Amino acid sequence: MRERILPILQKHARQRESLIPVLQEVQAELGYLPPEAITEIAQFLGISRSDIYGVASFYAQFRFEKQGKYAVRVCQGTACHVRGGKRVLGEVVYQLGIEPKHTSPDFKYSLETAACFGACALAPVMVVDKTVYGRMTTTQVKKVLSQYP
Ligand code: FES
Repeated sequence: MRERILPILQKHARQRESLIPVLQEVQAELGYLPPEAITEIAQFLGISRSDIYGVASFYAQFRFEKQGKYAVRVCQGTACHVRGGKRVLGEVVYQLGIEPKHTSPDFKYSLETAACFGACALAPVMVVDKTVYGRMTTTQVKKVLSQYP
């Protein structure tokens, strides 16, 4: 892993301002930010690990767990919420056996919530990878997920 991170670090100045771009590039390279990567970044930039976690946790884009093969995202925006988005999310949680911001133990699925996909007319909406599923019901959840074995 070190050999994949070092070339990224070496492109940046050893200063705190480099933190966000470094995190973005390391995540793009590894798919997430494992503890070993945080340690390397902390040593290179001279920042504590807890500082890095503090900053990175503030941004929804950063992931600290290895991501699943399929990204399942369920909208919890207002339009989706009033049309049953919470029930859809509950069914996805039940079917996958994981809570939002987590990945299944077999690394098949990662579950996230979203604030709005810009497809409110189709509410409630869930997205698997880049495919949008609109007017979702709890009974459709299992059918949609079965398309992603
Ligand atoms: S609120 Fe769900 S797509 Fe807009």
